[in-house]
Amino acid sequence: MLHFEETTGTFYLENDEITYAFTVENGLPEHLWFGARIPRDDLRYTRWISGTSCDAQLPGKTSENHIAAELPTYGRGDFREPMLGVRDENGNALLALTYKGYRVIPEPRLAGLPSTFGGETLEVTFEDAEKGLRAVLLYTLFADTAALTRSMRLENIGGHTLTLERAFSFAFDLPAGDYEALTLTGSWAAECAPERAPLRHGILTVNSKRVTSSATQNPFLAVMTAGADEAHGDVYGVNLVYSSSYRLLAETAQHGRVRVAGGINDFGFTWELRPGDTFQTPEAVIAYSGEGLGHLSRIFHDTYRAHLIPARFATMHRPVVINNWEATYFHFDRDKLFAIIDAAAGTGIDTFVLDDGWFGKRDDDHSGLGDWFVNTKKLVGGLDPIIEHAHEKGMKFGLWFEPEMVNPDSDLYRAHPDWAIHAPGYPVTEARNQLVLDLTRDEVRDYIVKSVNDILDTHAIDYVKWDCNRYVTEMYSSSLPAERQGEFAHRYALGLYDLFERIVAAHPGIFFEGCSSGGARFDPAILAYFPQIWTSDDTDAAMRTRIQWGTSFCYPLSAMSCHASVCPNHTTRRVTPWATRARIAHLGATGYELDTSVMSAEDLAAVPGQVADYHAMEDLVLSGDFYRLADPYGDRQFAVALVAKDGSRAHVTVMQLLRVFNCPPLRLTVPALTPDALYRVESSMGETLTLSGKTLSEVGLIAPVHRMADFESLTYTVTRL
Ligand code: DGJ
Repeated sequence: MLHFEETTGTFYLENDEITYAFTVENGLPEHLWFGARIPRDDLRYTRWISGTSCDAQLPGKTSENHIAAELPTYGRGDFREPMLGVRDENGNALLALTYKGYRVIPEPRLAGLPSTFGGETLEVTFEDAEKGLRAVLLYTLFADTAALTRSMRLENIGGHTLTLERAFSFAFDLPAGDYEALTLTGSWAAECAPERAPLRHGILTVNSKRVTSSATQNPFLAVMTAGADEAHGDVYGVNLVYSSSYRLLAETAQHGRVRVAGGINDFGFTWELRPGDTFQTPEAVIAYSGEGLGHLSRIFHDTYRAHLIPARFATMHRPVVINNWEATYFHFDRDKLFAIIDAAAGTGIDTFVLDDGWFGKRDDDHSGLGDWFVNTKKLVGGLDPIIEHAHEKGMKFGLWFEPEMVNPDSDLYRAHPDWAIHAPGYPVTEARNQLVLDLTRDEVRDYIVKSVNDILDTHAIDYVKWDCNRYVTEMYSSSLPAERQGEFAHRYALGLYDLFERIVAAHPGIFFEGCSSGGARFDPAILAYFPQIWTSDDTDAAMRTRIQWGTSFCYPLSAMSCHASVCPNHTTRRVTPWATRARIAHLGATGYELDTSVMSAEDLAAVPGQVADYHAMEDLVLSGDFYRLADPYGDRQFAVALVAKDGSRAHVTVMQLLRVFNCPPLRLTVPALTPDALYRVESSMGETLTLSGKTLSEVGLIAPVHRMADFESLTYTVTRL
């Protein structure tokens, strides 16, 4: 998989689908190719040699302006975005890194950071003797997916302190061409909206400065040949395994080449690298598809299921949850929770999750965060009677936490006001009446670990929802000296991952779900610990088609927690059919978010059938191939297909969004079936057909959307005979 060709000085990272190649010229790594698998030809003829022959090949004297760089730095002729910025004690920020060697190792754990697993890693080392800096580029390749990861390790091997001003995870240059970018933008209750834009000369950036990866811009960027669609075009996708402030960019430079680069956001970032210190950047997952965005998504899905999400959960049956948040908000007592559990019992729902409001003095969002002890006034007898009740009714029990936060009105804050992030002399910014705890401090993390683990270790808890309902402001820590304040945002992430190690990884039997006001921290780093994430607080089926569509560009369906809720919907006031709400929630880790004890008899009676429908398709949600068929942003219809990897089955979901007069039926081709096999097609409207795989993938299904009212939905199950 990882090959070094001595004669040409070229590294080939290759598997069945892709080749990623770079060479070392004049001590510097130059990018040669990222794309379809090719033979190990000498690719150096593709290098751009600058116009005048005299400056072409002079070691140390050649301008780096034309180089397709693997490790670009600033100051020696390459005026595009660098990957690395390092200043020494003299204030000198120049770098002259020279190749030292390479080694191939099993994929390492990255110190303090979550990372993928199951690949083989190439480490290529460069040194700047003047600065005493070693930069090691890490490339991890997987045998079974068209993705690789990149990161960088920096080591101070000299005698003087260095200051990192930028430490990106990767950079590579694409050949000149006509490209577009796809990004996932959004906000609370409207996460992951795909946005396309042509690349122009200059820089297109997505970033977060919030110390959380954010709903505003997901840490994902795809650069694709202009006009690429779901099935056609070269697409290069990047997704950062990181949850703090980040930056991803695509820079089109003077010769039309496009540099794609990114990692930790260098806005406000510095890092003191003292003699002997090491700094590891987060991992970036980089994927290539020669068959458009659909294939790119399937590569990310496969990569995350096989190499990122904890293996014990990756394709495990997902709890079918009843969550009390939209049912009660903060207003519940033991009897109310019993009633919700009793009504859900026997329907197939198998897990009751008690959301916000069970701890401290927490009757609304003004108080209690940080006080992780049970509010026995509200819950007489504590949590145990509820847990026992759920277990007696055959259901597992889940509990909500927001460990990173504190309300000023809490015992924790009264005892340790300095534990909340703040800058002396400046007012603090509250959001949702809460502040963020300073996770860079050991004593703060120790408190969180102890108080959360005390609850987990003394109760029979099967499931935890870990929420995070605000971003960080007043980025400052009294625990850091002045010259280290620029480290705050990254140190917060390291503190968060330390919590995950000590709470999540320490409880391998508990199933964890991530959440951040919905999907405001929906990133691969969270998936390295939590197999699924609450996708959005917007549970309206129509809006969910958009949010789940966008999220699917890089995250597998099994990672998306999706619940059916009441109508009018609490966020949009929209009314949609009960069957539709369930069907859209089945396109992920499904569940319910309503008061089962007050549901109409008719709706409640439908739940066992809905859960059975989900169970019948769950293997496709967990490990099938996902195809986006009709884009809900077009406002007409939404349609997607899930296809078993062996082509034996498929499930198609269609939802009418806005019916227009005289609209044609919707033709939906179902790809990746066995062409000459026969399939039985059953629609939820009662129609049955027998068709060959070839006919299904060429002629397709004809969904009668011209007869479907707004928000009505339809499913097809396709089974090989
Ligand atoms: C935001 C989450 O997205 C909701 O599901 C719920 O858990 C609330 N927080 C509770 O405060």
